[in-house]
Amino acid sequence: MNRGSGINVGLMGLGVVGGGVASALLRDPSPVSARVGCPVNLRRTLVRDISRPRDVELPPGILTTNAEDILDDPDIDILVEVMGGSDPATDYFRRAISAGKHVVTANKEVMAKDGAELMSLARANRVSLLFEASVGGGIPIVGCLMNELAANDVYSIRTIINGTTNYILTRMAHQRTAFAEALAEAQGLGYAEADPTNDVEGIDAAYKLTVLATLAYGCRFRPEDVYRQGISALEPQDFRYAREFGYSIKSLAIADRDDGGVQLRVYPALVPEENMLANVNGVYNAAEVDGDLCGRVLFHGMGAGRGPTTSAVLGDLIETARMVRDDAVPGGPRELSRGLAVRPIDELHTRYYIRLEVADRAGVLAQIAKALGDCDISIASVLQKDAHAETQSAEIVIMTHPARESSVQQALLEISQLSPVRRVGNMIRIEE
Ligand code: NAP
Ligand code: HSE
Repeated sequence: MNRGSGINVGLMGLGVVGGGVASALLRDPSPVSARVGCPVNLRRTLVRDISRPRDVELPPGILTTNAEDILDDPDIDILVEVMGGSDPATDYFRRAISAGKHVVTANKEVMAKDGAELMSLARANRVSLLFEASVGGGIPIVGCLMNELAANDVYSIRTIINGTTNYILTRMAHQRTAFAEALAEAQGLGYAEADPTNDVEGIDAAYKLTVLATLAYGCRFRPEDVYRQGISALEPQDFRYAREFGYSIKSLAIADRDDGGVQLRVYPALVPEENMLANVNGVYNAAEVDGDLCGRVLFHGMGAGRGPTTSAVLGDLIETARMVRDDAVPGGPRELSRGLAVRPIDELHTRYYIRLEVADRAGVLAQIAKALGDCDISIASVLQKDAHAETQSAEIVIMTHPARESSVQQALLEISQLSPVRRVGNMIRIEE
């Protein structure tokens, strides 16, 4: 095909990520055009508010608030979507793909909820749909699961996969920064989602884990398959006690496979200080993929922010533009065929940290130990801390031996009904 005038891109979104993509496309010389070997032109850019000041200088007439200017333009070859949210993005993807446009996106929500359908629509229309930036910012894990690691039977994926929560937890643990202040910093740095509830309640991580598990296991998973707990229930003393026991608190996203199926879980966990994941700090993300052929492969890098995310989007854009340049047919990810069961969280078997606020009087510990024993839970160690004379209360921290989640939930219910127990302060799972 004669690509004399080059390849045309329609960009949807001009925020943290879109600004980085636009400035790379508009730079002279453009690193994208140089790597593709022909001009890659930014033809239109969709935003919500055209009057908003932008930190990238745009040629006149390029901004639009009308999605049809991109979707109905037959000269646009590639749609790059960096708006976020599933509505209206999913509909735009369907229309673009059906019109023969290739798509590059950073949208984990769309890919988690409707990725399987969109990938098969893309295959049917012989166009490419790439989404490296949807997981792990600048870490190339999506492409590796689709291609370089595709031969493996994956046993597990253990990750820190949300930059905002890892930034917040690092600030709370190392500088004792308050939760709200650390979140505001993460928002200022461009790490957080438009609604940061998605970050702090583990929704963003659940989307990303859905995407990774779908690619790794070749099976269609949904965000609802992920057991999810956010970081908002953590209190400053949890970080203190964790440190005393030799652990860090990290929000983990884990996919584990055994003969019974796959378990998908996102929650804050105690991780031994010597473990690699315990030492992933700030906006950094990490992932450990354990496969039958490759063994354990580690990924580590910045998981959010303009630079790393732009790197991932532009990598996909360059790959797509080279394909357009060569009139090549996209390979696409593996077929999603294997039906694997999703194992419920009740079946988890691990160690637990339990923090209780109790009346500071004789016999309390014995009652709690009995409730745990009745549920077949064995205590590994106990700390009694922070006795408050004025309220005659104390804090007890229990570390258990491995136990079944359903037993721990039953025991906590019974413990919360004991008269000397004022509050179950927290229960945090331990991931060794
Ligand atoms: P952002 O700063 O909030 O920017 C969103 C952009 O999209 C804005 O320019 C906004 O227009 C535009 N937009 C949103 N909804 C629109 C709609 N319905 N119609 C037209 N334009 C719309 O978001 P971001 O941080 O760049 O994130 C974008 C995407 O990348 C999200 O899917 C996010 O999850 C993903 N991502 C972000 C990061 C990160 O570190 N920020 C990392 C990886 C992936 P206005 O400017 O006019 O408001
Ligand atoms: N809000 C996300 C995060 C952006 O903090 O990880 C990167 O996907």
